[in-house]
Amino acid sequence: MSADEPFDLSVLERVADPYPVLAELRSTGPVRRTTDGFWAVTGHAEALDALRHPGCASSPIALRFLDGLPEGAARDEMVHRINFLDPPDHPRVRSLLSTAFTPRRVTALRPWVEATAQDLAAGLARRGGPVDLVAEFAHQVPSLVISELLDVPVGERDRLTEFSDRTAPLLGLRTSPAQRTAAVAAAEEFHAYLGDLLDARAAAPGDDLLSALLAAEAEGDRLTRPELLSLAATLYSAGHRTTRDLFANGVSVLLDDPDRWQRVVDGRWTVPDVVGEFLRFETPTLYVVRVPLEPMVLGGAEVGPWEPLVVLLGAANRDPAVYDAPDEFRPGRAGPPPLSFAFGAHYCLGASLARSEAEAMLGALVAELPGLHEPGPSAAPRPWRQRGAFRGLDHLLVTA
Ligand code: HEM
Repeated sequence: MSADEPFDLSVLERVADPYPVLAELRSTGPVRRTTDGFWAVTGHAEALDALRHPGCASSPIALRFLDGLPEGAARDEMVHRINFLDPPDHPRVRSLLSTAFTPRRVTALRPWVEATAQDLAAGLARRGGPVDLVAEFAHQVPSLVISELLDVPVGERDRLTEFSDRTAPLLGLRTSPAQRTAAVAAAEEFHAYLGDLLDARAAAPGDDLLSALLAAEAEGDRLTRPELLSLAATLYSAGHRTTRDLFANGVSVLLDDPDRWQRVVDGRWTVPDVVGEFLRFETPTLYVVRVPLEPMVLGGAEVGPWEPLVVLLGAANRDPAVYDAPDEFRPGRAGPPPLSFAFGAHYCLGASLARSEAEAMLGALVAELPGLHEPGPSAAPRPWRQRGAFRGLDHLLVTA
């Protein structure tokens, strides 16, 4: 790859392991043109600069997804989606969400999360035999946690996961017209369901996050109905998919080398350090996009207004300028915190919940299934998938 040759971002969706490609790209410069008119940011310092730059906006990203969307739930959702907002809407919605989704609420949930992870892991241990860790554990815990947080009846959570899966193509970059039509219809069903839930909570408020969002108020300001619906849908989807990927991607890295798993089991590596390294080493959200509204110089590149930046968090997390031997899995390593939850105004609001869930899951798995391993060398390559920005495993077969 030469420094002048534009980089084809779609390569990332076609390779099982994007990290050698990202390392090669970074070696030719921290900010590089892509074939579709974006700039790919791979350096850690440059990614930080882009994410905290006041001239870099998020709302123009929604325009791409809004194009051709009919009036209705799908369009409303894109217009009000918190991570596509800029000032003045963004700080207003974010601060109202923060009054409901507090660190205290996350801390209070921790014992419940730990007990849930423990029960599920103990169930897997009792059953024995090969199990798909993605479907039977990595998905279950975050999905139960977000349902508990929003107080969605447990029997309904598969329906909500299905809504969230069916609406996901709305954020796809290569969505066919048929997929889009289906996703638009699914968004109507999703919002109708969430609307009923909000009405029920308005009539009989509880101790849950939806009731708190309905009540959230700052200086006489409140969340509007479309904002509430969009937040509820975003929280449900954001709340479980990336956490599942963080955990399953990370466990697959541990199982690549039996000594790694053993180090967690015998306590040479602590669970929080291991989860911290999961975040850096196998970044679940590989990139975020920002659009500069004014010309800027980033990593020596002259970026024009409206030329979108694809900030490759996964590449920044392996930048040798800030991490010693970045391709080695080393829990407790020195270096800045990884950028997996982004940085600045849109820093992930679920970061501490996601960490606490992944720690509870890993702690439970190590306690209940200390002999965890993959059932023999598999002829099939691991089923990695990169859908849009999200990188994860479809399955991970393990034996207790
Ligand atoms: C490992 C798990 C997770 C990862 C890797 C992750 C990653 C991210 C990233 C990269 C962003 C920034 C998006 C951008 O700048 O465009 C973000 C934003 C956000 N995340 Fe997460 N997330 C995770 C878990 C969660 C959970 C569990 C929740 C909630 C229950 C959550 C809620 C949010 C919200 C509401 C935002 C938007 C914040 C804003 O725009 O101000 N996330 N997340």
